Amino acid sequence: MTTESEENQGDEMEATTSKGSLSEIAAARTQKQPGSNALGVGLEARGVHAWFGEKHALANVSLDFWPGTVTALIGPSGCGKSTFIRTLNRMHEFIPTAAMAGEVLLNGEDIYAAGVDVTKIRLKVGMVFQKPNPFPSMTIAENVLAGLKLAQLKIENKDDLLEECLERAGLWAEVKDRLNTHGGALSGGQQQRLCIARALAVRPQVLLMDEPCSALDPGSTLRIEETISQLSSSVTIVIVTHNMQQAARVSDYTAFFLSDGGPGQMIEVGSTNDIFSRPKDERTENYVTGRFG
Ligand SMILES: Nc1ncnc2c1ncn2[C@@H]1O[C@H](COP(=O)(O)OP(=O)(O)OP(=O)(O)O)[C@@H](O)[C@H]1O
Ligand SMILES: [Mg+2]
Repeated sequence: MTTESEENQGDEMEATTSKGSLSEIAAARTQKQPGSNALGVGLEARGVHAWFGEKHALANVSLDFWPGTVTALIGPSGCGKSTFIRTLNRMHEFIPTAAMAGEVLLNGEDIYAAGVDVTKIRLKVGMVFQKPNPFPSMTIAENVLAGLKLAQLKIENKDDLLEECLERAGLWAEVKDRLNTHGGALSGGQQQRLCIARALAVRPQVLLMDEPCSALDPGSTLRIEETISQLSSSVTIVIVTHNMQQAARVSDYTAFFLSDGGPGQMIEVGSTNDIFSRPKDERTENYVTGRFG
């Protein structure tokens, strides 16, 4: 397992290193002033704050997510990673006592602007959770199509869509002969890929993943990572992970969050290579080298 994952990591790191233009974009991006040039940016958080009642959980986070890239959010427990990711598709506001400030721009338009339809935002910015949550009494096929049904979207060619989404989620080969069995009968890793297929069926531009592999065994984890790599050319992905190797394997960019007694903050963002090889902030270095957290 160790040898295999090290080998995989080597391959992925090499693939990431070879993306010269991406490193250049990352270098330009970290110098970019918040508020300048939103055009051409898939998703952009600007000055995001979050509260739970009186508690200021997240302070002034500005972060860009470029189309077709994978960004990993890392940091110790309680630093606000989940809170932040929930502000990116307006899930935060559904928690009682929760409040937020700042802007989240999707293709240059603030998803928090007056009159914006929250359901439409959720269709464009999908989410996959830590624990796979398929509808257990629905069949595999019904699970994949559930989001479309909920949004009352017309399904043109059901069979093609099913195959496409399950294929993109890396599950087709394993379930194609049992699409009418219950989603709850799949293994944990398969259920998580089913949830990814369900999220993809509504054709999101962005996929948010909050520790999607933390409940999975190493084999299923690698399978999900392959899925993420395959999806990243067509979907912008934001993934929260406590697994540094996973961040190094799957992400183009990494953002480090930390709560130093006060609200969580984004300490540093850069190309994943830079964050893991030459972070600018000592606190990032301490975290990625395992000195704390
Ligand atoms: N529903 C809630 N009500 C009150 N406080 C909350 C709620 N959810 C989170 N918090 C607080 O907000 C802060 C950030 O929590 P959050 O879940 O975003 O951290 P995290 O970085 O995702 O941690 P972990 O790595 O453990 O998942 C924490 O102090 C947490 O206790
Ligand atoms: Mg969390």
